[in-house]
Amino acid sequence: MVVPKTRSLIVFVVLLLVFNAATLCHGGVTSRFVRKLAKGDDMPLDSDVFRVPPGYNAPQQVHITQGDLEGKAMLVSWVTMDEPGSSQVLYWIDGSDQKRSAHGKITKYKFYNYTSGFIHHCTIRRLKPNTKYHYEVGIGHTVRSFWFMAPPEVGPDVPYTFGLIGDLGQSYDSNSTLTHYDLNPTKGQTVLFVGDLSYADQYPNNDNVRWDTWGRFVERSVAYQPWIWTAGNHELDFVPELGETKPFKPYSNRYHTPYKASNSTSPFFYSVKRGPAHIIVLASYSAYGKYTPQYKWLEDELPKVDRTQTPWLIILMHAPWYNSFNYHYMEGETMRVMYEPWFVKYKVDLVFAGHVHAYERTERISNIAYNVVNGICTPVNDSSAPIYITIGDGGNLEGLATNMTEPQPKYSAFRESSFGHATLDIKNRTHAYYAWHRNQDGYAVEADNLWIFNRYWNPIDESTAASA
Ligand SMILES: *[C@@H]1O[C@H](CO)[C@@H](O)[C@H](O)[C@H]1NC(C)=O
Ligand SMILES: *[C@@H]1O[C@H](CO)[C@@H](O)[C@H](O)[C@H]1NC(C)=O
Ligand SMILES: *[C@@H]1O[C@H](CO)[C@@H](O)[C@H](O)[C@H]1NC(C)=O
Ligand SMILES: *[C@@H]1O[C@H](CO)[C@@H](O)[C@H](O)[C@H]1NC(C)=O
Ligand SMILES: *[C@@H]1O[C@H](CO)[C@@H](O)[C@H](O)[C@H]1NC(C)=O
Ligand SMILES: *[C@@H]1O[C@H](CO)[C@@H](O)[C@H](O)[C@H]1NC(C)=O
Ligand SMILES: [Fe+2]
Repeated sequence: MVVPKTRSLIVFVVLLLVFNAATLCHGGVTSRFVRKLAKGDDMPLDSDVFRVPPGYNAPQQVHITQGDLEGKAMLVSWVTMDEPGSSQVLYWIDGSDQKRSAHGKITKYKFYNYTSGFIHHCTIRRLKPNTKYHYEVGIGHTVRSFWFMAPPEVGPDVPYTFGLIGDLGQSYDSNSTLTHYDLNPTKGQTVLFVGDLSYADQYPNNDNVRWDTWGRFVERSVAYQPWIWTAGNHELDFVPELGETKPFKPYSNRYHTPYKASNSTSPFFYSVKRGPAHIIVLASYSAYGKYTPQYKWLEDELPKVDRTQTPWLIILMHAPWYNSFNYHYMEGETMRVMYEPWFVKYKVDLVFAGHVHAYERTERISNIAYNVVNGICTPVNDSSAPIYITIGDGGNLEGLATNMTEPQPKYSAFRESSFGHATLDIKNRTHAYYAWHRNQDGYAVEADNLWIFNRYWNPIDESTAASA
């Protein structure tokens, strides 16, 4: 007879196997690994990660993003609370004592009964490639210092590593996601952020104090490496009941993008080149139908992508086109119908989206044969099509998406309800190594991974379904 202690151990092991088992359905893998079902709580206002830096008028919420088309400029932003103070940034190359300065601008906004601090935006230009820069903000009052690496010159075979984070929020889970990204042995150099930043709109009156806490929370990453911003639905802050009818007011005051450099007319859709990648950011919540500014811009933009200069064509958006969870189901459908033929024609490598609070990766598929009368409306394998990845698993207070459509559609290669982040490690023009990390594993553990082959230079079938 088994002694009780051993028996409970056996029961535990069996349960562990059951819950861990990746179940094969019609499509790819549905991993039943579910971290926890309870909604995550936001970190309280007095949390360590929200601490206001000490000193009179000290700059807070420091964040950087690419400031031009090719990565030779950086846009530095921060907030001062006591008075406007200086919008100057001092910066210098690591090891040099020759300091240069740039001057920015201040914006400020009101939202219902909230008044923002003084929001500074300053672009520093003519950065030397692959060079470490130090920078200082808060000149004249309380100076704070940070640093970043300028990216390598844009080119086809420069290795570069991107982090992928979405729907982050400011819960304990969000903090765990950011910590896992920081401590991942694969070091991300720039974050591609797929939208839904602070979730301040979940508070009474969209309490914009939660935009400030979010800015302080993520500073430990975004002051040192650029995050490329995508607008999500939680950036809309459209509340007619409060008299707030200008969409994206807090977001667009706080988070600028270099949209003019790619001839866009809106901060919500634009492109940047970074290392070996041409990154196109699309706006799920701006008009995208035929004749709209976004449609015309994208139509002009795609033929400009030069795969001999930037082999990797990556698209970011908030609402996914291919999503087999029962959350936000088909919300991306109308945009897919408009733009998917272009993605296939121009051989987009990867499309990253958020919105659904889970992780999912598709096969290379397209669904562009349908023409209203022919009834051909099932996604098919298509070696010219992108892989679609939903990475809306940053860990915000709304909790995980756990309810999935069954059976798993054929196009879905891997799906799981866990919080986490991903990295895309581009090696050269033909190969990139992609890995997804869930928060409850050790920092180095990859829960889903595959080699991704470039669609222009190396369009062979990756046969992705077997990953687990
Ligand atoms: C804004 O109004 C709400 C109630 O409508 C109140 O609880 C809050 O304290 C006010 N905030 C400020 C900054 O006045
Ligand atoms: C957030 O994570 C950091 C890094 O792991 C840790 O130092 C900090 O205490 C955490 N804060 C909260 C409120 O969990
Ligand atoms: C933007 O438009 C101007 C004027 O037509 C053109 O010279 C420039 O090359 C365009 N830039 C990009 C990135 O397309
Ligand atoms: C999952 O979603 C489906 C479709 O929306 C719904 O009918 C079903 O009740 C949901 N199941 C659970 C357990 O919530
Ligand atoms: C590109 O990178 C892959 C993976 O590291 C490597 O196997 C391949 O040889 C590289 N190609 C060239 C031309 O260096
Ligand atoms: C599509 O590709 C996947 C992965 O290579 C494969 O498992 C599946 O059978 C293919 N489906 C069709 C209809 O060819
Ligand atoms: Fe969303």
